[in-house]
Amino acid sequence: MDTGEAILKINNIEVKYHEVILVLKGVSIEIPRGGIVALLGANGAGKSTTLKAISGLLKTEDGEVTDGAIEFEGRHIHHERAAMIAKMGIVQVIEGRRVFEHLTVEENLKVGAHLRKSGSVRDGLELVYHYFPRLREKRNEISGFVSGGEQQMTVVGRALMTEPKLVLLDEPSMGLAPKLIHEIFNIITKLNKEEHISILLVEQNAKLALNVAPYAYVMETGRIVMDDSSEKLSANEDIKDFYLGLTDKGGRKSFRDVKHYKRRKRWLT
Ligand SMILES: Nc1ncnc2c1ncn2[C@@H]1O[C@H](COP(=O)(O)OP(=O)(O)OP(=O)(O)O)[C@@H](O)[C@H]1O
Ligand SMILES: [Mg+2]
Repeated sequence: MDTGEAILKINNIEVKYHEVILVLKGVSIEIPRGGIVALLGANGAGKSTTLKAISGLLKTEDGEVTDGAIEFEGRHIHHERAAMIAKMGIVQVIEGRRVFEHLTVEENLKVGAHLRKSGSVRDGLELVYHYFPRLREKRNEISGFVSGGEQQMTVVGRALMTEPKLVLLDEPSMGLAPKLIHEIFNIITKLNKEEHISILLVEQNAKLALNVAPYAYVMETGRIVMDDSSEKLSANEDIKDFYLGLTDKGGRKSFRDVKHYKRRKRWLT
């Protein structure tokens, strides 16, 4: 990928869990400064592992980058601790929208504030509420009781509180209604454009991801098998078949069917 300066370069990394389980087998990804890049792939392909390798969260699961390198703004980070990586400006929004359920929405946001580099907590909250007006309305509600979409907004908002340079988003659309997904992705696009936050977006919803990100990588069983502009990937027959749920007969498969098909296919190989 040739798009000028990269904020993050993953260079041929290998990742193992518990010193023996090899999950990433040579993954290379580049994220241009200020860009949005999507990472697609079926269940178990290694998408979340890739994000955890970047953020350093891998170490909390007894995982390790055993080969290759990850460079953030020219600095090697693959052996750094998660707290240091967060300080440098990388934040991961983990899958499954984990709010602190017993805390209010605003208290959840404040949890992200201790990593702020410059502005006050108040400024941070104002910024979050500017982009997520719904969260301002819900700020005093217990986050365990707000809707799934509002919880997802809360965890993205919490990430924003850290004044990140790079946000790693793990399946933000999961389990949300189309209208909400649309709303959240509009905001994510705005954050990228207006706040110049670089984004690595992991999605099983390929159609969505290819709409939001101009460039994407496709991962299968721990390897990048394809990377190209989203325009080209959208036109690719394999992508149409397996990831966009379009059969060659022109009908539409449900995403679940495609996923199952992929799983079966893996067992056969
Ligand atoms: N902590 C762990 N210890 C051992 N193996 C793990 C661990 N976490 C993940 N794995 C394995 O690594 C592989 C990749 O998992 P990962 O969660 O990165 O996939 P994914 O692409 O994010 O999948 P999904 O779409 O289901 O979220 C899987 O085979 C998984 O079982
Ligand atoms: Mg995952």
